[in-house]
Amino acid sequence: MNDIVKARTERTKWFLDARFGMFIHWGLYAIPARGEWVRSIERISNEDYEPYFEEFNPTRYNPREWARLAKEAGMQYAVLTAKHHDGFCLFDSALTDYKATNTPAGRDLVREFLDAFRAEGLKVGLYYSLLDWHHPDYPHYGDQNHPMRDNPACGNEHRDFNRYLEYMHGQVRELLTGYGHLDIMWFDFSYGEMAGEKWRATKLIQMVRELQPWIIVDNRLEAGGESYGSIVTDSPTFYSGDFASPEQMIPPKGMTDVHGDPIPWESCMTLNDHWGYCAADRHYKTARMVIRNLVECVSKNGNLLLNVGPDAKGEIPEESAAILREVGRWMRKNGESVYGCGASDLPKPDWGRFTRKGNKLYAHVMEENVCAYLLDLKPGEVEKVRLLANGAEMALTQPWNTVSIKDKSFFTFWGQSFPLPDENDTVVELTLK
Ligand code: GLC
Repeated sequence: MNDIVKARTERTKWFLDARFGMFIHWGLYAIPARGEWVRSIERISNEDYEPYFEEFNPTRYNPREWARLAKEAGMQYAVLTAKHHDGFCLFDSALTDYKATNTPAGRDLVREFLDAFRAEGLKVGLYYSLLDWHHPDYPHYGDQNHPMRDNPACGNEHRDFNRYLEYMHGQVRELLTGYGHLDIMWFDFSYGEMAGEKWRATKLIQMVRELQPWIIVDNRLEAGGESYGSIVTDSPTFYSGDFASPEQMIPPKGMTDVHGDPIPWESCMTLNDHWGYCAADRHYKTARMVIRNLVECVSKNGNLLLNVGPDAKGEIPEESAAILREVGRWMRKNGESVYGCGASDLPKPDWGRFTRKGNKLYAHVMEENVCAYLLDLKPGEVEKVRLLANGAEMALTQPWNTVSIKDKSFFTFWGQSFPLPDENDTVVELTLK
């Protein structure tokens, strides 16, 4: 195991135990309420976006409420956008006037977020956009994503990208020196030639490791949501990151390097179809989908970072909160089958998934079966069986109509195979000998 992999393995131990986090996309774009890419999609100039800066005043922002909701949902960490692609800083940066403390809000929103989530016992991370559509030295005309990419009047002749990099690195230094112990830096994202050393990535990560050596970093100094960078190769770069960040999907087989060794990964996912608040987007996932996505990630040695997009007043949409509260009710009774768990070496069963932690095998029953549920285990391999949610004793059986199936085990729910005790996901705890 090379030094980069060794250090990554040590740093990510807590992360692989935590399994479930909250992503928070919030900023000026909550006012137009059409998602965080509104400037790029609608080609909005800095000048036309300025009214939102002058108006931003989230009077009902109370990050302690956000933290309590995350904790109630069973989340163990949270990542807030300190600066998204629009360049607006939610923190009191000395390097720009384009920040929350200069809006009617007049507050350092990042500091309040960190204080609140730490107070609730969650680990904390900050998302920082490598892109910056507000900064005059970031490429405009001809860039892949900039709101002024089609406007020849926004040429790049007078732009000094090195000056932008000094700004970007300077802001990361501010976050790493002015806001206490951070657990995650979540950079976003690389595209085309805008990747790796174009960001001065080695120097950036040297600074990160020097200032907060324990912090874990994602892989997007080299990648985007659709790619992974060198973390999946046998020669990861110094800035390959500590975890891969598949976006809006769960890798079919989890994630490994070229040798088949698991690498830390975290699927980031929205609750509806937008990261930033979008008033028109009512397409929310159900609590059942969230629970099953979380279990699928864990069953493949991964994490789930689930997003909320607070509105312009500073509140998490009620639809999101209701889903998270229902997920929390399931997590309160079944969290042992998630936290610190990972893949089982058993093949995926027809009726659901397995997660495992030591000698505890968790059978996540998600599909009702007319007959008993087949376990790819011999009866002698199992010491005891319990319904995880309430500790009720269960037993392995070999029903009369399965006697032709040898060397396997079966279970029912006290003689019945349906309805399931929990239609979201019924977890059966098997203690293996
Ligand atoms: C994509 C989106 C960005 C979002 C990120 C979250 O990069 O462009 O808006 O913050 O995904 O993973």
